[in-house]
Amino acid sequence: MSLKIWTNIDNYFTHCFIPEDEILQAVLQNCKQNELPDIQVSNHQAMFLHILVKMQKAKNILEVGTLGGYSSIHMARALENDGHLTTIEYEEKHAKVAAENFKIAGLSHKITLIHNDGKSALKKLIAEEHRAFDFVFLDADKRSNPIYLELCLKLVKKGAVIICDNIVREGEIITCHTDDKDVEGIRHFCKNLSQKHHIITSAIQTVGSKGHDGFSISFVQ
Ligand code: DHB
Ligand code: MG
Repeated sequence: MSLKIWTNIDNYFTHCFIPEDEILQAVLQNCKQNELPDIQVSNHQAMFLHILVKMQKAKNILEVGTLGGYSSIHMARALENDGHLTTIEYEEKHAKVAAENFKIAGLSHKITLIHNDGKSALKKLIAEEHRAFDFVFLDADKRSNPIYLELCLKLVKKGAVIICDNIVREGEIITCHTDDKDVEGIRHFCKNLSQKHHIITSAIQTVGSKGHDGFSISFVQ
């Protein structure tokens, strides 16, 4: 099995299940024109996030790592009527493109985009006693995942769902023996999660057009 067949299968299911969407095409085109890295979640992963947000009936979503806002748009579209999404992006160019994309998607009123580093932004939300989040998507620099976890746990309410992207990275999570800071960050994130007895977690491996990776899904009891 290889990337080629995984991609062909993703394409097959795209024909089955993913409606043509001019807005999302324009959003991806804008990301491409501005030369953002092509590392956003796949269309199926984005739709999966959308469905999870619907299942959770989420009212208050927190995303760390906006990139061009592709995942943010899928999640914001699934919010309850009075729901809101807060998303944090460190890179100035990414934040600028994401803000444009939220306009293209007609979602600017439902999304607060914070242009700051993840740690400072989360600490500020904690200091402001921000109302509790019920859905979190962690998808920023992987080395900081342990600290993002600790900070996010001060911002979520009981019953919250926390998803963390890219916890497999082509198997590096178990095969990498170097001191790669990102892999180390993911390992510490998993270890720390395992020690939180009020949180249950599953880790799901994925293959598809984005290669072999995976995400964790946690429930705060
Ligand atoms: C990378 C980051 C991501 O969030 C992702 O989904 C894929 C790759 C990266 O930094 O390489
Ligand atoms: Mg990711």
